[in-house]
Amino acid sequence: MTKYSLKNKYLLLLLLLVAINKAHADSGYKLWLEYNKITYQRASAVYRQQLRYLIFPAASDQLKAARGELLKGLDGMLSILPGDAKTITDGQTLVIGTRQSLKSLSIVVPDTIGSEGYLIKTAFIHQKKYTIITANTDVAVLYGVFNFLKLIQTNQPISNLNIADHPRIMYRVLDHWDNLNRTVERGYAGSSIWNWHKLPGIIDQRYIDYARANASVGINGSVINNVNADALILSPQYLTKIQALANVFRVYGIKIYLSVKFSSPVELGGLKTADPLDAAVKKWWADKADEIYRYIPDFGGFLVKANSEGQPGPQTYGRTHADGANMLADALAPHHGIVMWRAFVYDNNVPDDRSKQAYNEFKPFDGKFKDNVIIQVKNGPIDFQPREPFHPLFGAMPNTALMMEFQLTQEYLGFSTHLVYEAPLFAECLQSDTYTQGKGSTVSRVIKGDFNKKLITGMAGVANIGSDLNWCGHPFAQANWYAFGRMAWNPDQSPAAIADDWLKMTFTNNTVFVSPVKKLMLQSRENTVNYMTPLGLHHIMGVSTHYGPGPWVDNAGRPDWNATYYHKADSAGIGFNRTGTGSNALEQYAPQVNAHWGNLQTCPDEYLLWFHHLRWTYKMRSGRSLWDEMVHHYYQGADSVKQMGLTWDKMQGKIDAERFTEVKQLMQTQLAEATTWRDACVLYFQTFSKMPIGAGYPKPAHPLSYYKDMKFYYVPGIGGNNYMTN
Ligand code: GCU
Repeated sequence: MTKYSLKNKYLLLLLLLVAINKAHADSGYKLWLEYNKITYQRASAVYRQQLRYLIFPAASDQLKAARGELLKGLDGMLSILPGDAKTITDGQTLVIGTRQSLKSLSIVVPDTIGSEGYLIKTAFIHQKKYTIITANTDVAVLYGVFNFLKLIQTNQPISNLNIADHPRIMYRVLDHWDNLNRTVERGYAGSSIWNWHKLPGIIDQRYIDYARANASVGINGSVINNVNADALILSPQYLTKIQALANVFRVYGIKIYLSVKFSSPVELGGLKTADPLDAAVKKWWADKADEIYRYIPDFGGFLVKANSEGQPGPQTYGRTHADGANMLADALAPHHGIVMWRAFVYDNNVPDDRSKQAYNEFKPFDGKFKDNVIIQVKNGPIDFQPREPFHPLFGAMPNTALMMEFQLTQEYLGFSTHLVYEAPLFAECLQSDTYTQGKGSTVSRVIKGDFNKKLITGMAGVANIGSDLNWCGHPFAQANWYAFGRMAWNPDQSPAAIADDWLKMTFTNNTVFVSPVKKLMLQSRENTVNYMTPLGLHHIMGVSTHYGPGPWVDNAGRPDWNATYYHKADSAGIGFNRTGTGSNALEQYAPQVNAHWGNLQTCPDEYLLWFHHLRWTYKMRSGRSLWDEMVHHYYQGADSVKQMGLTWDKMQGKIDAERFTEVKQLMQTQLAEATTWRDACVLYFQTFSKMPIGAGYPKPAHPLSYYKDMKFYYVPGIGGNNYMTN
């Protein structure tokens, strides 16, 4: 062999290796809709036999999308494109269509499925075996198809199915905090996916894939702009662009909503006032609503942040939240639109405990809102902290529709470098018992409308989506988008079951991977609570950027933006007394809850310093002093991140190298940041407790001054917005 041909051979080999490597590379762009080839021969053969033919009277765009998705999934996983059968011979046949279009098959469909539920059923018709996916509406057929594909993605048997499911919540909405200049407030996954400059002409494939992903988990609404809204969003120039997005989303059953600035009539309309009781203002909004619906006939409605963190609102004109919300509701009502009015308010003038203020402002208006208004309440009374008790408004307004607002973007959970699976946080809140209608009146039941059937229901998630190739910045942050959709569909689903599905759909069905990684996911949120805010501590992050620790912050724009306002550490002890001898925030909860959390004997350690100010030597259930317990949690938190990294290392080779390496690097960053949180907080609180860090714990690497002096430039999530908050 000549030297030349040998060289060529090596080159060929190299190219081949590159090609193989490329084939296995996975950027994460496909999310949980990977549709990876099923390599397990037997399963694959069984599925192929069972999915021989396809009958799909796909007339509408939505049904065509369902058909396209099914073919994409089956081709990806099984390398088959089932043929449309004219005469059915052997093998099973998939029949997909609305109940109306499949009338001749006389399938019994349970009434419970309603307009968005579906039925997947195995049936024998004239001795032939069929799998039927049916629903009352086209979009629900699409939901059925996605769920059928999930069965195959997670390697479930499909030979004898009888699955009927329907959403328990009506409005399942993502809230994007995206600005018109494409920055994303509190966004850590690149810039906004909405390319305003290129819209309406250019329809990015991302818009379609975004809609597919949402539909696959039943998300049916998208608020596409920041709650700190720019009035321009309502200008004809932008409405044309929004119309183009709406046309894409409609195919996947997703309605567009807009965050609106309450002063838009002044800023955009040239009026002198935005007073909600002013006739010209009312007319301006009614005309604007008519105009929007001319562009987007199925427009969803408005989301409003009013009289909160500097935003204008009805109070600016001496009116109430009810006046403001109802005026907008009237404008939208003829078109069946809704108003999602946020309860995230805290007064500039009233020096009361911030955690009490939303309740104080909203509770008096129970029953005063129009039928198409829903009050959007954050899960906890402060602001998406790693752990908060449930918001006292849940259950406190029985004559008002209340919707849940969770935050998917990890503003207070380590941005997109920390692996934090949020479903346990969602479940913790949803399964909390408000006792407002007696034992068992959980937050989940309140938002499902169990106590007032007539009202509309909803759940919102502040999106963690951006232009990053993998959408969410961290491959595991995709799980939070996925879990949100699943829990908005049914708030009582278990975080473990959702993680199981997500891991299988996103990575592999291999249990050697799924079991340990699921465990790691389920533990991850508690880890973060431990290294950031254990024992009920809250709001001790860096000022304004919200990046890294900042328990020393005491000079922010307002007292209740300071960390010291919340932890109240002094030489005697630490914690916020919210019992009757303190701010009495506990009084806003039902007596049972007040008694439970107000009593040190029963208050769980998790909420201890949220509700109580205790001396450093206070004896904890563990037998440790409060100080030692706090130190223990901080070290345990950072240590668990190290353990997580060791578990992940063992996953090498079980999944594609690209995502394996990315997660490995992210975990190293997370460990460094968790250690910083731990050391900064322990050293800072030690200046008050004056107690030693226990002998078994490694000493912090630097003095406190080092952590206090850390400076961070161009932190993501704060740029470009015309308004900056705490
Ligand atoms: C937090 C967040 C802000 C956001 C606000 C809101 O305070 O830091 O950026 O605007 O919540 O929910 O309105």
